[in-house]
Amino acid sequence: MKNVIPHTFSITREQRNTLMQHNGFLVWFTGLSGSGKSTIANAVEKALFEKGIHTYTLDGDNVRKGLNNNLSFSPEDRLENIRRIAEVANLMVDSGLVVLAAFVSPYKADRKRIKQIVGTANFVEVFVNTPLAECERRDVKGLYAKARAGEIENFTGINAPYEAPENPDVEIDTTKVSVAEAVSIIIKKLEHKLH
Ligand code: ADX
Repeated sequence: MKNVIPHTFSITREQRNTLMQHNGFLVWFTGLSGSGKSTIANAVEKALFEKGIHTYTLDGDNVRKGLNNNLSFSPEDRLENIRRIAEVANLMVDSGLVVLAAFVSPYKADRKRIKQIVGTANFVEVFVNTPLAECERRDVKGLYAKARAGEIENFTGINAPYEAPENPDVEIDTTKVSVAEAVSIIIKKLEHKLH
């Protein structure tokens, strides 16, 4: 941006990582509403915390109540939702945290931008690939029933698209693996990134 000149601060990311005793990076969970993203992210955070890793979780239902409470579910607003979260996550990663982010993030292009914002080396994509029929059967929040009844616009999987990742770092189908198994698969993927 014109006329904005960043100041050079003396403490570097490397120094913060040394103090933390691990690297910071972003673990991004994408998948349908009700697929289990937040549940798995929460369990992964707990497992990391127990190993002494500094973590923070961002998820759709809390970020949309605060930072992004002015955004809808239109494609343009979802792009802005994801862009802001990626920028916030980038600052947190720079501060040395392992950030877990659970967002439907249905558009491929938006997820590609997250990677550009935080850098490929700092990004792990987890696709929580629970089939739509199962998410709808669970309907934890009652939103699928409302969407089917025509009461919700742009509901992912019903009247808005979900573009599945082609090459996620990890893919979890919660009809096939338990939360504990998912955690151990994901932690295994993260171990070499931590140190
Ligand atoms: S995203 O598409 O912009 O990434 P985000 O993860 O922030 O979505 O929010 C999704 C959550 O908002 C869902 O888990 C669900 O509880 C709720 N929600 C409300 N309306 C919609 C909708 N139209 N489409 C998807 N999720 C919705």
